[in-house]
Amino acid sequence: MKKLIKQATQMLAAERERYSALHPTSNLLAKQAAQHFLYGVPMHWMNDWGTPTPLFIADASGAHFTCADGIDYKDFCLGDTGAMFGHSPPAVARAIAAQAHKGFTAMLPSTLAPNAGAALSEFFNMECWQLATTATDANRFVLRWARAVTNRKKVLVFDGCFHGTVDDSMLDTVDGKNINRQSLLGQVQDLTLHSQAVPFNDLAAVENALKTNQFAALLTEPALTNCGMVLPADGFIQGLRALCTKYKTLLILDETHTISTARGGWAKANHVRPDFMVIGKPIAGGLPAAAYGFSYDLAKRMEAAKDAAPPGHSGIGTTLSGNMMTLAAIHATLTETATEAAYTHMLALAGHLEHQLNDLISTHQLPWNISRMGARLELQFCEKSPSNAAEARAAQNDTIESAIHLYLLNRGVLLTPFHNMMLVCPTTHEADIHKLVRVFNECLGALIST
Ligand SMILES: Cc1ncc(COP(=O)(O)O)c(C=O)c1O
Repeated sequence: MKKLIKQATQMLAAERERYSALHPTSNLLAKQAAQHFLYGVPMHWMNDWGTPTPLFIADASGAHFTCADGIDYKDFCLGDTGAMFGHSPPAVARAIAAQAHKGFTAMLPSTLAPNAGAALSEFFNMECWQLATTATDANRFVLRWARAVTNRKKVLVFDGCFHGTVDDSMLDTVDGKNINRQSLLGQVQDLTLHSQAVPFNDLAAVENALKTNQFAALLTEPALTNCGMVLPADGFIQGLRALCTKYKTLLILDETHTISTARGGWAKANHVRPDFMVIGKPIAGGLPAAAYGFSYDLAKRMEAAKDAAPPGHSGIGTTLSGNMMTLAAIHATLTETATEAAYTHMLALAGHLEHQLNDLISTHQLPWNISRMGARLELQFCEKSPSNAAEARAAQNDTIESAIHLYLLNRGVLLTPFHNMMLVCPTTHEADIHKLVRVFNECLGALIST
């Protein structure tokens, strides 16, 4: 490993020079943008990709985009799931264009509301819905509802989880103890008072927490997708379902990323029924939109909680949530874009990619593995898929990761930053997969022989 890190350090230095030479326009735009944007970017984390300057995009369509310097990229990041059904899917673009002449937002539902609700219900197999603008907000609102209907304060999450910038989930585990995530800015509350994190795939730890009967909700993804990828052990999510029922804790499944599994998400494909499900990012084809679903029974409990509260702000909802434009985009995404045929294509190609990447890993005799959840793959620097976040973290190596990302980017292939995720969309072609595999093979060759 030490030798590989040394070689990756050299590769990274060479690739940073190559990037700067290849991207004079991005370099110039970075200078200009720095005059008016913090860190020179519209959101500060856009500066954390590991490139010398941010890569500025000129246009994006389907599974690829062109940067400001006119270079074409095969996109396997796809906006970290936001563009999971391809950039500017034609049906969504048409729906947005049509709605654009009929109003964007009015604080009232458009005539499309019943159809959008029916589409959500059919797609995810959940009866009742509310909209939000981001998955972060949807998670935050669901936690509020959960606390309101159960009259309990605490929330259980998993070590290594990420549900957007929801403070209730921002815990780290250090020497077996939960603490506020140290990187949080401006957080003055002790989050451990009302939140607890336990290891993923550990039903005994979950039961130990839940049996205190203090937990309103258990919030999790079906797999941890933000600390590398940690897949659920057989029966783990079903076990969570049973424990939540036993201890009257609401089970929230955040399917924002695991919608990669199949049409309808992981829970529908695996016949698990959460109390709440949360979905964001790709649900409106990449336009900001999110939704949370629940049963009619839970809807009655939510209405009772709202009706029993004094009139005024509920702390749930934002002005633009559920706007007219969003309804049009959600409807077009669910009914015309994220079709069974689209998923069949995505899953088959992702399977081919998994197979070819595994072949490369064994050819180069690297102790690495590929984990896959439907259309989503993760390369991890450990022999076996990790079973919890601690194992996933132990396998991470920033230098090797950055070297691989930049080598690929400099040859027209984009992976998701901050880990090694690859997504396949309905317009990804075999040729795109071949390019990724060919360049990755060259990269490993260079890394091993540098
Ligand atoms: C599982 C999961 N849920 C929620 C979110 C939050 O999404 P957003 O940043 O769009 O609010 C993320 C973001 O990466 C996520 O990974």
